[in-house]
Formats: sequence, structure tokens, C-alpha cells
Amino acid sequence: MQQKKFKKRIGCIGAGYVGGPTMAVIAAQCPEYLVTVVDINAKRIAAWQTDDLPIYEPGLINMVKKARGKNLFFSTDIDSAIRDADILFVSVNTPTKTFGEGAGKAADLQYWEETARNIIKASNSDKIIVEKSTLPVRTADAMDRILNANDKGIHFEVLSNPEFLAEGTAIEDLLHPERVLIGSRETKPGLKARQEIVDIYTNWVDRSKIITSNVWSAELSKLVANAFLAQRISSINSISALCEKTEADIAEVSYAIGADKRIGPKFLNSSVGFGGSCFKKDILNLVYICEHYGLGDVAQYWESVVRMNDYQIRRFVLNMVQAMFSTVARKRIVLLGFAFKADTGDTRESPAIYVAQKLLDEHAHLVISDPQALDNARLVLQASAQKVEFEKDPYAAAKGAHALAVLTEWEEYKKLDFRKIFDNMEKPAFIFDGRNILDHKRLFEIGFNVYPVGKPPMSHF
Ligand code: NAD
Ligand code: UGA
Repeated sequence: MQQKKFKKRIGCIGAGYVGGPTMAVIAAQCPEYLVTVVDINAKRIAAWQTDDLPIYEPGLINMVKKARGKNLFFSTDIDSAIRDADILFVSVNTPTKTFGEGAGKAADLQYWEETARNIIKASNSDKIIVEKSTLPVRTADAMDRILNANDKGIHFEVLSNPEFLAEGTAIEDLLHPERVLIGSRETKPGLKARQEIVDIYTNWVDRSKIITSNVWSAELSKLVANAFLAQRISSINSISALCEKTEADIAEVSYAIGADKRIGPKFLNSSVGFGGSCFKKDILNLVYICEHYGLGDVAQYWESVVRMNDYQIRRFVLNMVQAMFSTVARKRIVLLGFAFKADTGDTRESPAIYVAQKLLDEHAHLVISDPQALDNARLVLQASAQKVEFEKDPYAAAKGAHALAVLTEWEEYKKLDFRKIFDNMEKPAFIFDGRNILDHKRLFEIGFNVYPVGKPPMSHF
């Protein structure tokens, strides 16, 4: 590899849902930068080197193919990638801590800190370190102290460049971001490093969309953005429960309130509840930080967003059991969708996990169907493998079923031949639409008993 022809060398530690797509886009848009993505997970790195990528994301393979082997490389040689890089993005996982102080709320920073120690060990020149992972506000302070305590005389400038992509639309979000946020210290070296990161993004993002700030504002804005998005979903979901009691229709309410520009129409789709690896984790982290600073009321305010989400998922399964004459034991129930949202194979914190577990507790015979997430679903439900069937084809899954529950808003579910499905089901046939994506009136006319979210049920009894 001729490294001389490249303007700068970028390293990225962590080749997951963020590191992989983000670096693929940077490499494709910035041919003058050499980009190397490393990970401790050798299987993941091997998959990034093939056309069978480790994650499903529309448009990702084309983006990878544009740059891979030219200025985009995937490797397990973490030390070399660190040593050679001028700029190091860190996008390792920062899950909720499961042990010790702050368990269940605080961010587990062990992977991040291990990375910092690797950086000190492998480096022999100054570097810009960019927090791409979502981190508690003031992490850069701790990192700065750990990294700059090195005895090699090397200077590390720590910046925050949080990622706002959503899974399923990652490539679109990266290519056309609404904003890019870059936080740095407001010192001479901090501002110089900030400019270097701005220079990467201006290869394809208009400068007016690049927001620069102090490093703490950037760190905190990421947590707050996720908290606000999740809050909208919990707010509308809380109203869905009231709609079910009052014959108001949540879709009509969402439309009516969203038409006010101050509220806006997005993120007002009532559902079985939000999932994904970040909303719950980031809100709980925000809650923990508020508690840490003695802001109990603020902490409780944000925690209620997560509580409302738990309530919504619980309520959905309870409705299912109650509608089916208060027992689902030995009934064949098909979950249409297991991914936490459409266009991804990711099942982390998917509401489907709770729904499945609850139905298994009720001794249902469960069939899981999903176009992209069956491998992950198998892993998640491996402890109950004997009691669960996995069937990609929704028609085969629905044969002999008592009920269907739509848990992921896959486009293809809207186009299913529900007449054919109904004919092959046990009667009475039930359908629970946890995403409100189906034509409920038509399903009712076919003969289904239909239970949407936040709308009156349509029952033949
Ligand atoms: P992920 O689990 O998919 O990827 C993280 C990767 O880091 C894993 O492959 C893991 O093996 C690797 N890793 C861990 N420790 C390492 C080490 N010491 N050295 C090298 N590699 C190491 O996680 P993700 O979904 O990509 O999320 C990463 C971060 O980005 C998190 O902080 C998350 O909150 C944030 N984020 C995620 C999304 C998203 O949509 N998934 C969006 C925005 C921000
Ligand atoms: C979310 C944010 O949208 C991203 O900006 C952020 O970068 C990312 O978290 C992160 O930090 O990880 P993501 O979790 O991938 O992205 O997906 P979303 O589209 O936000 O959906 C999250 C959940 O909310 C899904 O389960 C989705 O089905 C649900 N949702 C979304 C609703 O129930 N109703 C809505 O109106 C919108």
C-alpha cells in the first residue's frame, strides 16, 4: 500500500453499526484519506472483507465496494492502525453497565477505556482522538487525562463527533446529514484539531450544516437528541392508551397535532414501543448523570420516558392474551418481524424480545418470521430454542396459526395476501398490528379480529 499519496491517515476502532458505515462513507467521499477500520472481533472483520457484510443496511455494500481495497481497509491489527493514524475515530460499544456502581443506568466505559490504553501503548506520534461512540458528558475530560498522562511526550487532542445516523437509513443519513456536530476544546490545538475534522466532512457536506461547539456541548447534545426523539414516541404512545378507551384514533390525533409546525409530523407513529441499542441506554445514562449531579427531579422526568415505553410493550402483550380469551397456551402465534425497526437485521432491545418472552411464559407456541433478523432472533431466543419455530416465509409461518402480531414495519408485510393467510389459519383468527401498518378495515372484512394500537379493536364477537 502506497501511503504517501494520501493526505491523512484515519483509523477507526470498532467496526460495528456505526464504525463500518461511517468509515465506508468517509472513504468513498474522501479518496485522499486512507481509512483503516479495526476491531477485536475477527469474525466481524472477516465479514467486512467479503460481500456478505456483518450488518444489513440498504446501500452499504455499494458504498463499501467503492472504496474497499483502494483507501478503505478492515483489519484486526489494532496496534498498527493506531500507530499509523493521524486521526483516530473511536466507535466501540458503550452499553449500559450491568454491574457495580450505576448498574442498570450508567454507561459501561470499559471498552472505551481499554481503547485509550491501547492508544497510549501503540502510539509514537501526536494524534487527534475523536469520540464517535455516544458517551457521558465530560468523558473527554477523563480521556484527556488518561491519554495525556503518557510518558512518551505525545499529545492527544480529544474531540467529540457524535453520530446521528439511524439504522436502516445509515447511508442516506451519512451522505445527506441534517447536521454534523464537532466539539473540541477552545484552545489553539483544540481549534486546529476541530478544523481537521471539519475538513474531512466538507468533502461532501455543506459547511453550513457543520456545527462546531465546545466538547461538552457535543457530548451532551447526542444524549439529549436521543432523549427528545424517544420522548416523542413515549408521548404519543401514552396517548394511544387513552385513544383505546375513548374511540379516538391515534393516527388521526398524530396527524392533527403534527400539522402544527412547532410540533412537526415526524416520530409520532404510535407503536408497540421503541427498541434499538441506543434510546433506552442513552436515556438511562442521562438519568444517571442527572442523579450524579443531584438533579433528582430532572432524572425522574427523563426516566419516565423509559417507563412509558416498558408500559406500552407490556400493555401490547396483555391485550393479546386478553383478546384471545385470556389464554394463549399451546396456541400458534406468529410474530411478523423481530428486528427493532424495518430495514435492519438488528434486534437489540427490540420490543419483539419482550413480547416473545411473555408469550412463551404463557406457554404459547411461537413462530418468528423476519426477512433479515432471523439469525439474531435465533441467538436472542436460544435458551427457548425448543419452543420456538423460525420461518422466513410469512405464509408458511401463518399456516395453522391462531394469531399474527406485526412487530416490525417491514414494507413487504403491507403487501401480503391476507385472504390466503386467513384461509389457512385457525378460527377465530386474530391479528395484532403493533405498528399500525395494515389496512384494518379490509382485514376485518376478510374475517380477522383486528387489534391495532391506539384505535378501537374490530372484533366479530
Ligand atoms: P457495535 O457493538 O455494533 O460495534 C462496536 C464494535 O466495537 C464491536 O464490533 C466490538 O467488537 C468493537 N470493540 C469493542 N471494544 C474494542 C476494542 N477495545 N478494540 C477494538 N474494537 C473493539 O456498536 P454500534 O451500534 O456500532 O455502536 C457504537 C457506538 O456508537 C455506541 O456508543 C452507540 O451508542 C453509538 N451509536 C450507535 C448508533 C447505531 O445506530 N447503532 C447510532 C449512533 C451512535
Ligand atoms: C436512533 C436515532 O434516530 C438516531 O438519530 C441515533 O443516531 C441512533 O438512535 C443512535 O444513537 O443509536 P435508531 O435507534 O437506529 O436511531 O432508529 P430510530 O429510527 O430512531 O427508531 C428507534 C425505535 O423507535 C424503533 O424501534 C422504531 O420502530 C421506533 N419508532 C420510531 C416508533 O415507534 N415510532 C416512531 O414514530 C419512530
